[in-house]
Amino acid sequence: MGTINIDQQLDYIDKVNNINKGKNLKYYILTMGCSLNENDSEKLSGIVTKMGYTKTENIEEANLILFNTCCIRENAEERLFGKLGEAKKYKEKNNAIIAIGGCMMQEKHIVEKLHKSYPYVDIIFGTHTLHKVPEDIYKILVDNGRLEDVLDIDGEVIEGLPIKRDDNIKALVTIMNGCNNFCTYCIVPYVRGRERSRHPKDILEEIEGLAKQGYKEIMLLGQNVNSYLRSEKWKEKGLDYNGINSFATLLRAINKIDGIERIRFISPHPKDFTEDVIEAIRDCEKICNFIHLPIQSGSSNILKTMNRKYTKESYLELVNKMREKIPGVKFSTDIIVGFPGETEENFEDTLDVVRKVNFEQVFMFIYSRRVGTPADKMENQIPEEIKHKRFEKLKDLVESQIDLNNKEYIGTTQKVLIEGYSKNDSSKLTGRTESNKVVILDGKNELIGKMLDVKIISEHKWYLKGSLN
Ligand code: SAH
Ligand code: SF4
Ligand code: F3S
Repeated sequence: MGTINIDQQLDYIDKVNNINKGKNLKYYILTMGCSLNENDSEKLSGIVTKMGYTKTENIEEANLILFNTCCIRENAEERLFGKLGEAKKYKEKNNAIIAIGGCMMQEKHIVEKLHKSYPYVDIIFGTHTLHKVPEDIYKILVDNGRLEDVLDIDGEVIEGLPIKRDDNIKALVTIMNGCNNFCTYCIVPYVRGRERSRHPKDILEEIEGLAKQGYKEIMLLGQNVNSYLRSEKWKEKGLDYNGINSFATLLRAINKIDGIERIRFISPHPKDFTEDVIEAIRDCEKICNFIHLPIQSGSSNILKTMNRKYTKESYLELVNKMREKIPGVKFSTDIIVGFPGETEENFEDTLDVVRKVNFEQVFMFIYSRRVGTPADKMENQIPEEIKHKRFEKLKDLVESQIDLNNKEYIGTTQKVLIEGYSKNDSSKLTGRTESNKVVILDGKNELIGKMLDVKIISEHKWYLKGSLN
């Protein structure tokens, strides 16, 4: 198996820790992307914490500034350049180290722009070189130079990095990196490389460890989780472990881990939603009956030019099949409006699917052109004002559905995993239903981390109010 030996990097962590001793240094980290990006940030936090930096939410007092970037849409990119202007001031004040990593750093034109216009950035690292950040920071501290550590080739699977998690009830667990699907609008395959699955043994050990630390909920992560191990020669690579050789068998094994009470996963691809996965969800009581199933568009024509490999009809069939096999299952989805060539009629198909499926949650995006993707080169781009009009129309429909769905919760009893105190009202507890709805309720400290039966008493657009009896 191609697992990289990271002992050398752990040595660099110790070396930096020695240099930093007694200096009371602080780090600031900004995570700009998806849950995978967040999980990477937790690893970065783990690394720099071991180096002796403590976390600050205030960039002004940071000695080390970390930006973990995303390039999925244009606005994600713009955010970095705004933040870099701000960071320059603090660099001058505290002599802070500025390090930028993540998906955006895999884009050549972005790195060139940084070189040209932002010479005060100290470290640039990519998605395949995160594990080398200890060495990068050491070199900057010792040589005071400028470093770029971006690899074009697919990184190998890295195990054994320290981690400092953001939460102590719910944990993110990346099970695979990269994507082989090349949806025509999407930049991810270019910046994250091909699919590489982690060894089942490493995943199970991580989750067993989390259970021992008191974690209750596991979110499995990958750009296409339900193709876990599938695109790889898992037998040749020795990835078979205790009968685990697919996503379904992995789910069943995780379901047996004592202490873990909830299992979620993002994102599965509709084309890979095989029978064995549906049966695993049905059979395993810890897997939430709430599935994120990205549709992107309701039009079979658009789905074809998006290279999604399913149709409106086959998506609806899949939803119906899952509803039959998994009683009470609910869905959320991702939708893009304004993909090149999308006609009014195509857009109506999207609205039609939304009406038919009645999603619990819809993540809506306006199509954003990404350099290097096939859709960026398509000639029939949709004018901004039409994209925005469609977006508003979709949003109105989704909000009206969610309003109605929320009302149906009133009077029901839901299993709620209590996560902590509410951010908006620190006297109240907050938790989530199996369908990921936020529930606010009165209760004591000792209920945090418990799965409770909560009666829903009212709904308030973004959350439900509940009571314990
Ligand atoms: N691998 C996941 C999605 C990762 S990106 C999947 O296939 O479902 C998260 C979402 O961002 C996508 O589902 C899509 O809806 C949206 N997205 C991706 N590229 C986009 C683009 N160029 N413009 C607008 N939205 C985009
Ligand atoms: Fe992007 Fe498609 Fe891969 Fe998801 S499946 S990451 S949308 S290319
Ligand atoms: Fe963004 Fe990279 Fe995630 S582009 S959405 S951070 S995989």
